[in-house]
Amino acid sequence: MAESTDRPHQDGPTRKTLFRAALVAAPAAALLSAAGSAPALARDRAADGTALDPTPQCDDGDDPTPPQMEGPYFTPHSPRRRDLVVPGDHGVLLSVSGYVFTRDCRPVAGALLDFWQADAGGVYDNTGYDYRGHQYTAADGAFRLTTVVPGLYPGRTRHLHVKVQAPARPVLTTQLYFPGEPRNGTDWIFDPRLLMNVHNHWGRKAAEFDFVLDHTV
Ligand SMILES: [Fe+2]
Repeated sequence: MAESTDRPHQDGPTRKTLFRAALVAAPAAALLSAAGSAPALARDRAADGTALDPTPQCDDGDDPTPPQMEGPYFTPHSPRRRDLVVPGDHGVLLSVSGYVFTRDCRPVAGALLDFWQADAGGVYDNTGYDYRGHQYTAADGAFRLTTVVPGLYPGRTRHLHVKVQAPARPVLTTQLYFPGEPRNGTDWIFDPRLLMNVHNHWGRKAAEFDFVLDHTV
């Protein structure tokens, strides 16, 4: 499938892009005080302190991140780490960053993200914890993973596995995909809603993806 056909669908700014803009514009103290209390960070009050109308970006059609099968290679109790790169291993370095939101636009602080993937050669470590690790979102809902681009293995397109869980909430198990992969068109569980935005960056790849969990508050 051509790259142009499996790009994420975007018709305009979503609540996530607007949230990113708010992050840039808002003082850090405002963000910290708003996380977990206000439905729209630093956007629920005008400059003079008067309340604004409910933010339309909270109802702009963003659907929750769809779940996908866990597959056969999940191992519980992964180490807590944001960097999965195995020293001396080959592979193209990949960063994945984004935010975790609830359906009503609130960033989720302290959300668990547990990533696992094949190494650059397409092999899972099923005896240890190479290319496996969990982390928690920051106060603003942000996460960042450093790893390598996973290799291909028979029957699948290129992908990452992840479990995402807000504190005391159900676990979302899903997978993330890369645009422009020839196998995206033949992998029967591939879902374009799970495509990351991926950019080449000085020989490395930088990907972005925001999760929307299917609950509010
Ligand atoms: Fe897999």
